[in-house]
Amino acid sequence: MMFELKDVTRRFGNKLAVDAVTLTIPQGQMVGIIGRSGAGKSTLLRMINRLQEPSSGSIRFAGVEVSGLRGQGLRNWQRDCAMIFQQFNLVPRLDVLTNVMLGRLNHRSTLLSLLNVFTREERVHAIAALERLGIEQTALQAAGTLSGGQQQRVAIARALMQNPKMVLADEPIASLDPLNAKIVMDALRDINEREGITVITNLHTLDTARNYCERIVGMAGGRVVFDGKPSELTGEAVKEIYGTDKDGAGIDETMTSTSLESTRRAETPSSGMMAKTAAMH
Ligand SMILES: Nc1ncnc2c1ncn2[C@@H]1O[C@H](COP(=O)(O)OP(=O)(O)OP(=O)(O)O)[C@@H](O)[C@H]1O
Ligand SMILES: [Mg+2]
Repeated sequence: MMFELKDVTRRFGNKLAVDAVTLTIPQGQMVGIIGRSGAGKSTLLRMINRLQEPSSGSIRFAGVEVSGLRGQGLRNWQRDCAMIFQQFNLVPRLDVLTNVMLGRLNHRSTLLSLLNVFTREERVHAIAALERLGIEQTALQAAGTLSGGQQQRVAIARALMQNPKMVLADEPIASLDPLNAKIVMDALRDINEREGITVITNLHTLDTARNYCERIVGMAGGRVVFDGKPSELTGEAVKEIYGTDKDGAGIDETMTSTSLESTRRAETPSSGMMAKTAAMH
């Protein structure tokens, strides 16, 4: 089952958000999309899921043109490519278990959905998904009371309930601390490796893409400017993706890092100030 994008383009007015993107992704790959803010990463994912329509170009899965799908065909496609968002998109007042079962909505009749009746089998399946992500103890808690890392794991469990062929994650760890970021990325890698689900994820940070993705796609100005293995991502390629700063110097990889190391570095200003205050006394 091949997933193929050909010359996929999206304009907003006369702004080219995504510019003739062509990619072929075999089933089961884990792909990281990187690039600076405004490069077109989210727009690209949203077009795959049909949350946004391409201005032109073709998106095909197993030979079927995704842009042509309507009605049930479109709902099936949206079930096949589950979305994960930076802000989790759970229903905060509903309990975790119900949130996970909402992943079944596209599998069910409208009447049962309207009545919000879930079968015993759906409950068992949902609890198994929560167990797999190590958060079954939260099943009856309101989703909004969970930590960010737990909420993102609920979102992944909900995605698994769709039995997707592909998971599209838009900056899934951008709101998380390093420990939870690792737990969530490990969970995405696990579903990729164990179920052979294709994972396409936008990532802010180069080190995460390098550590987790077998293939990295670098975007700049709506275009793909790099497509290769992490080992092929040289300093030169990084410069092409992220550009150079106004002094013409290259981008330092630590600037795009979320590692514990760089978090500590980010904290130095305040500790430095405390040291200064202490020295004054
Ligand atoms: N609905 C919209 N209307 C107008 N312009 C849009 C719309 N959505 C995106 N754009 C523009 O398209 C370009 C690409 O946006 P997109 O959100 O895809 O970038 P991104 O790579 O995801 O950035 P970030 O890293 O900040 O999330 C930007 O210039 C953005 O302003
Ligand atoms: Mg984005």
